[in-house]
Amino acid sequence: MKVKNTSVTRKLILPLLLGASVAVILIVSACQRQSQTVSLAELSPIVAEGSRAYELFQNHCAACHGRQGRGDGSAAIALNTVPRDFWNEPFRYISTMDGVPTKEDLAFTIGSGRVHGEMPSGPWLSDEDISALSDFVLELNRLGWAERLREEFASEGMDESEIQEISQERVTSEEPITVPMPGPVFLPDMQRGRDLYLASCGSCHGSNGRGDGLDMPLDDLGRPISVRDLVSEPIQGGSDPVELFKRLRCGMPGTPMPSQSLLSDDDIWQLVYYTRFLMGQPLPTAGR
Ligand code: HEC
Ligand code: HEC
Repeated sequence: MKVKNTSVTRKLILPLLLGASVAVILIVSACQRQSQTVSLAELSPIVAEGSRAYELFQNHCAACHGRQGRGDGSAAIALNTVPRDFWNEPFRYISTMDGVPTKEDLAFTIGSGRVHGEMPSGPWLSDEDISALSDFVLELNRLGWAERLREEFASEGMDESEIQEISQERVTSEEPITVPMPGPVFLPDMQRGRDLYLASCGSCHGSNGRGDGLDMPLDDLGRPISVRDLVSEPIQGGSDPVELFKRLRCGMPGTPMPSQSLLSDDDIWQLVYYTRFLMGQPLPTAGR
């Protein structure tokens, strides 16, 4: 009986002990990884611990975006949308054709928040704070480029000044597009809008705009993403026609949503208003 008991105990305890030691090893290595994370001050004065931008970021943003902006804040798990990892992801809400946001694009996002992404708007932040935070996230993005370049070209020994230079180029945007206002005789033409929509958008957003055109859409990091339901989901970048024009012309880097470089300005306006029609927004009767 005693012998049997011992073997039962062994059967139970050994796997438990094994499990516990694996857990300990995992925790210790996670802690080591944490402590191995370089301090931001070593990388750049713009994001240094103790700077005003850093403090603002810790107070208002780190809960979701993580202390160093790697998208791993403690609240991230409770959100439906993954908070942006500023080191490894492109920005989506842009007004340029080269996929890089202007500082104004970032300031607009930070000031207005992202409804669907559950990112709060920041009316409590002053313009100065928003400007400092915009520089902060863009600098993290540059550091991400530098990190990848260092890894990629480690064997070739790319020198540090070259890494700094190239990473800076990667986050320097070209001029934003100018959004040309539709002429005074422009009127939304729902038939034309629908034809354009079916040709360029329906394959993803679905023929009725319900976001049901793609089976398993993924973002550029291979994570599942949903195609916006234009009828019932909030439009995060804003339903203002000028913002919609930018979204359609410039696309949303990091997602399947493409830029439309070939369509004429007039066609983009028709699409903007057809999108607004799907959203149930008022349409202009003359001009914009
Ligand atoms: C409650 C969580 C939460 C907080 C707090 C938060 N964010 Fe976000 N943020 C998100 C999510 C989620 C996204 C991704 C939205 C998406 O992809 O649709 C995001 C996206 C962004 C983007 C990317 C915009 C783009 O063009 O792709 C920027 C920049 C940003 N946040 C900055 C900030 C800053 C700065 C703060 C602090 C003032 C902040 N966020 C606070 C959740 C949060
Ligand atoms: C290849 C697939 C694809 C095509 C084609 C496409 N989209 Fe998208 N679109 C997406 C995805 C995916 C998102 C969601 C991106 C995200 O969540 O960050 C999106 C988002 C949007 C948004 C939301 C922007 C915001 O601020 O929230 C609008 C509006 C939109 N698309 C309109 C259009 C229109 C109009 C067209 C045609 C000109 C079009 N899309 C073509 C995949 C596509």
